[in-house]
Amino acid sequence: MDGNGRWAQKRGKERIYGHLEGVESVRAVMEAAVEWKIPYISFFAFSEENWNRPAAEVNTLMDMMGRTMVNELHLFLEYDIRFVVLGNRARLSDELNAGIDRMMAVTAANKGLTMILFLSYSGQWDILQAAEKMAHDLMNDPGHVVQSADLSRHLVTAGIPDPDLLIRTSGEKRISNYLLWQMAYTEFVFTDVLWPDFRREAFRAALEEYASRDRRFGKIK
Ligand code: IPE
Ligand code: MG
Repeated sequence: MDGNGRWAQKRGKERIYGHLEGVESVRAVMEAAVEWKIPYISFFAFSEENWNRPAAEVNTLMDMMGRTMVNELHLFLEYDIRFVVLGNRARLSDELNAGIDRMMAVTAANKGLTMILFLSYSGQWDILQAAEKMAHDLMNDPGHVVQSADLSRHLVTAGIPDPDLLIRTSGEKRISNYLLWQMAYTEFVFTDVLWPDFRREAFRAALEEYASRDRRFGKIK
């Protein structure tokens, strides 16, 4: 989700207005995903690198996420959505972590869409923490021939399918340390639309572009 700040600046407003409007886009995209029976949807809400923004913006973002989560709980229950947060949770406040734990527990048995919020996440951090655990396993089983599944099982995304599609908004064309391992065969769709303007129709257009792709996974037809 990129372009919140620029969306606000274009209107002569503080960056936070862009983040607030961006929450409406999350809701619109989530509702469309439920309607279109998409099983998993992930949002890269806050990266490890985002901690380097000014404290005022970081604090406002964290407050906003904590509050929105609680306010939207009814939506998760109504639409049968399972809510999952993945990332370096040790860096989040105790209060936010408690809110996340509550939301995850209350929605854990929901069977519809799984909505994953990546918070304080980076792909390199994920691979490193998984490699550390894999190395520990290897000490107990030195003869084992390492395979990719050995690492995958320790990533925070273990048990969640790799993404079919990545949508990046706001005209940027980079992966910015997102799901590096998991996106080995993901299709990328780039759009100039700023995240606060990314609603149902923009989402539909991205899915249509995805549907036109020929996925070969390195093989030939
Ligand atoms: C994305 O919008 C939201 C977060 C990273 C939390 P930005 O805040 O990056 O907006 P721009 O890129 O400055 O427009
Ligand atoms: Mg940005």
